[in-house]
Amino acid sequence: MAMISFLLTFVLLARAQGNPLPNQSCNTVEGGYTCFPQLAPEWGQYAPFFSLASESSISPETTEGCHVTLVQALSRHGARYPTASKNKVYKTLINNIQANATSLKRDYAFLKTYNYTFGSDDLTNYGEFEMYQAGIAFYNRYEKLARDNVPFIRSSSSERVVASSERFIAGFHATKQKDNLSDKSQSAPIVNVILEESSTFNNTLNHGVCPKFESSDLADNVQDGFANIFVPAIQKRVQHNLPGITISTDDVISLMDLCTFDTVYQTDNASKLSPFCNLFTHSEWVQYNYYQTLGKYYGYGAGSPLGPAQGIGFVNELIARLTHTPVQDHTSTNSTLDSNSATFPLNATLYADFSHDNGLTPIFFALGLYNGTKPLSKTEVESISQTDGYSAAWSVPYAARSYVELMTCTYDEQPLVRILVNERVIPLHGCKADSLGRCTLREFVDGLSFARSGGNWASCFE
Ligand SMILES: *[C@@H]1O[C@H](CO)[C@@H](O)[C@H](O)[C@H]1NC(C)=O
Ligand SMILES: *[C@@H]1O[C@H](CO)[C@@H](O)[C@H](O)[C@H]1NC(C)=O
Ligand SMILES: *[C@@H]1O[C@H](CO)[C@@H](O)[C@H](O)[C@H]1NC(C)=O
Ligand SMILES: *[C@@H]1O[C@H](CO)[C@@H](O)[C@H](O)[C@H]1NC(C)=O
Ligand SMILES: *[C@@H]1O[C@H](CO)[C@@H](O)[C@H](O)[C@H]1NC(C)=O
Ligand SMILES: *[C@@H]1O[C@H](CO)[C@@H](O)[C@H](O)[C@H]1NC(C)=O
Ligand SMILES: *[C@@H]1O[C@H](CO)[C@@H](O)[C@H](O)[C@H]1NC(C)=O
Ligand SMILES: *[C@@H]1O[C@H](CO)[C@@H](O)[C@H](O)[C@H]1NC(C)=O
Ligand SMILES: *[C@@H]1O[C@H](CO)[C@@H](O)[C@H](O)[C@H]1NC(C)=O
Repeated sequence: MAMISFLLTFVLLARAQGNPLPNQSCNTVEGGYTCFPQLAPEWGQYAPFFSLASESSISPETTEGCHVTLVQALSRHGARYPTASKNKVYKTLINNIQANATSLKRDYAFLKTYNYTFGSDDLTNYGEFEMYQAGIAFYNRYEKLARDNVPFIRSSSSERVVASSERFIAGFHATKQKDNLSDKSQSAPIVNVILEESSTFNNTLNHGVCPKFESSDLADNVQDGFANIFVPAIQKRVQHNLPGITISTDDVISLMDLCTFDTVYQTDNASKLSPFCNLFTHSEWVQYNYYQTLGKYYGYGAGSPLGPAQGIGFVNELIARLTHTPVQDHTSTNSTLDSNSATFPLNATLYADFSHDNGLTPIFFALGLYNGTKPLSKTEVESISQTDGYSAAWSVPYAARSYVELMTCTYDEQPLVRILVNERVIPLHGCKADSLGRCTLREFVDGLSFARSGGNWASCFE
């Protein structure tokens, strides 16, 4: 057993060292500044942003003969520290290891002097950097529109989300200034509407006002069930390496979490893999990623009866923006804000909204983006092709970015819509998508009947 774990650890190290750092894609906007492209996709929602452009079967570039006339970006905040409650859990575990482990050898030796210094909840320096890069990437991608316009911004009120939108704006402005020094419009103020996160404030960027949804523990149960399947084998090895203390299922998950948090904190560019990462094999990371994917799917996606309903309000706002007509919604929209052109204009060409993984996931499902994904197995890891491109890391890594593009093409009279998630084109569902994944605006809106009808929002109060 010890021999096998040693071999597996060696394989992981070999993998990590196999790509000499800095990797070519490690330091480019296009590559998302991810230094560990071989590992990050297995870190669930704790993955640093990585571009899926190379995974897109349809070119993410703007199609020849077409020009984008309106963009709605929806982004997750950048890399962060653990939440305050998780910090307590992790610190207790590290303290226990440092006080009571009778031997710390090989890959575990670093724990002897490991200094637990995480902050709580906020962006790490790398997280700020990711969002600044996201602003640059957005400007460059939509340069033709961005030269003469500024995005209309909305942010969910959490500090890390607001800070993320501010870094994004800074990156956008810096690029715009470089692009055209003589243009006075470049200093146009950017409006940033903050939507409060609470159980009494209708916020389309984050869940909170649907009581039945808030009280569900389905995802926790599904995750616990899967942890009981994949963790024991890992637990046995970790326990063997940490004599003197008792390692629980949760402790194993915590040590894996710490690999991700430590990596996005220890350096400002996440260029150094945390020593926690080497305690696990690649196939264990694949299981971890699936565990996190189950949490999102059964907590906020189609696996949750009221998950997609949390995204209805935003989808109805999107329809309003794409069609330049007032919002029609009776779910989580705030009618005071949405009927006021200062807080919800209908004439902008660039919109950028900022939220959390748990804000984005319901919206992606309300849009039907993953309607090709069959209910996820609660007991066996499914590959990304088995899930039709759905995973926590592929949908909501740190600094995740989705773009809804409205475009006009010379060969088509009707405006077309397409959607990219992390630079991968997702062929639309609910309408007859063309070979480039697009539908006409009219058919796209028709296909969003779930959102337009209010879906099952009424069940929130049953
Ligand atoms: C960097 O990572 C990318 C994406 O995985 C890979 O295609 C490329 O070969 C790597 N480059 C180097 C120099 O290792
Ligand atoms: C990351 O930052 C460190 C320290 O500033 C620097 O030495 C290193 O070259 C950077 N690595 C990459 C891949 O950008
Ligand atoms: C060390 O172990 C003892 C006995 O189990 C426990 O009471 C104590 O809290 C542990 N120390 C730390 C720092 O966790
Ligand atoms: C741990 O980190 C803190 C904060 O950076 C620092 O003040 C302290 O000296 C460090 N302790 C050790 C043992 O390195
Ligand atoms: C720079 O701005 C001026 C004034 O708005 C505009 O006429 C010109 O086309 C812009 N040039 C570039 C390269 O964007
Ligand atoms: C709607 O927004 C207004 C303006 O910010 C705020 O005063 C009000 O409390 C909000 N109401 C709800 C239900 O969200
Ligand atoms: C907030 O949402 C509820 C439905 O969930 C709705 O009844 C109420 O009118 C909304 N408030 C505002 C200000 O839009
Ligand atoms: C949108 O309309 C408002 C109010 O009519 C106006 O002040 C603003 O300049 C317009 N914005 C754009 C981008 O056209
Ligand atoms: C996605 O699937 C759900 C559940 O079957 C359905 O209600 C919804 O209309 C579909 N959405 C699209 C855009 O196809």
